Amino acid sequence: MIELSARVKTMTSSPTLKLVQIKKQLQSQGKVILDFGAGEPDFSTPDNIKNAGIEAIRSNFTKYTPTSGIAELKKAIRASYLAEQGVEAKDSQIVVSPGSKYGLFILLQAVVNPGDEVIVPLPYWVSYPEMVKFCGGSVIHADHLQSQPRFELTAASYISRFSPRTRAVIVNSPSNPTGKVMSSMQLAELIAFFHQKNVLIIVDDCYRKIMYADEAYPSPLALLPGAREQVAVVSSLSKTYAMTGWRLGYSITSESLAAAMTKIQEHSTSNPCSISQKAAVEALSGDQGAVRSMVEEYRRRRDYFARRVDEIGHIPYALPDGAFYFFADFSHYIQKKKFQDDNQLAMDILEKLNIILVPGSAFGAPNHLRISYATSLQDIREGLGKLETYLKS
Ligand SMILES: Cc1ncc(COP(=O)(O)O)c(C=O)c1O
Repeated sequence: MIELSARVKTMTSSPTLKLVQIKKQLQSQGKVILDFGAGEPDFSTPDNIKNAGIEAIRSNFTKYTPTSGIAELKKAIRASYLAEQGVEAKDSQIVVSPGSKYGLFILLQAVVNPGDEVIVPLPYWVSYPEMVKFCGGSVIHADHLQSQPRFELTAASYISRFSPRTRAVIVNSPSNPTGKVMSSMQLAELIAFFHQKNVLIIVDDCYRKIMYADEAYPSPLALLPGAREQVAVVSSLSKTYAMTGWRLGYSITSESLAAAMTKIQEHSTSNPCSISQKAAVEALSGDQGAVRSMVEEYRRRRDYFARRVDEIGHIPYALPDGAFYFFADFSHYIQKKKFQDDNQLAMDILEKLNIILVPGSAFGAPNHLRISYATSLQDIREGLGKLETYLKS
């Protein structure tokens, strides 16, 4: 048997991607599954974007491209970032990657040495700890489970975990799994502190265009212009434009960091898919009407969810400000049903109701469940009806 590397042995599989496999298995047995586990929009990629991809194939735009992305896409990224956040970036600061997940991966590979500490939010998106460990780094938690108000993303939670070994901090706003957004005041305080400590501030804003609050998304690159070199923004087209399968994300960092990331990408994936890059140009520069409609629909679902969860009762949660997840505390029902933990509750719900929910333990938050509302209102109505009967029985 081939001996695996020590690095990969410490890595665990993605619990959310495992659920996708379970779903396919159950469906192949003829079961009708209500999927509230999905981390991707239930909408199709808008037609104008699909057509740009088709046109790219027709015109033979199907070869290698520059490693960090084509000039036309970088121009579209610069223009949309300037219009949205008032920040001018240079092409040499932008790295387009096959998904923001890969962008984060190469960013961490470029800065984290064995023994370094990286502060990640708790609850966390499942891949952060695995990526940090893969670099030989240690994961330190900025705890938002104890926050008041519930799940609030605070600067203090990061600052209190600083040590001389801290190399980077990851802010995820809007957050997966809580949907919480870090306020501009908190973000400015965080950036000011870590900038002064020479620590890289990574902001994963892949849900930033899926927001329900009226105030504008605070721009990490504009808040403290003097700290800009120290801030790395990682963005995605996956969620905003329902393009998860196209694998397209981008980072805006300092030029030296972008050059380092480009080197890693050069020797690992060469470049992001040429066809997806053309589609991304249309996504960013074309009509944004589809995005507005999707966000409106998510908002309707979120509000319906909140109302129904209140009616069921004993499920504390914080109303999400963005993204498309409800993260709630199911301790009451775990105890009532005499289950050991959230994993057992989620498994029982899957077996008895054919409903997929993600156990909070996957995000470092036992006794919670993540419920995605990237699924139709009709399924949400049906699923919550079944869940209410089950929980109250
Ligand atoms: C917080 C967060 N960051 C990054 C990603 C990666 O998205 P993608 O690689 O599709 O751009 C996801 C996907 O679920 C996510 O939830």
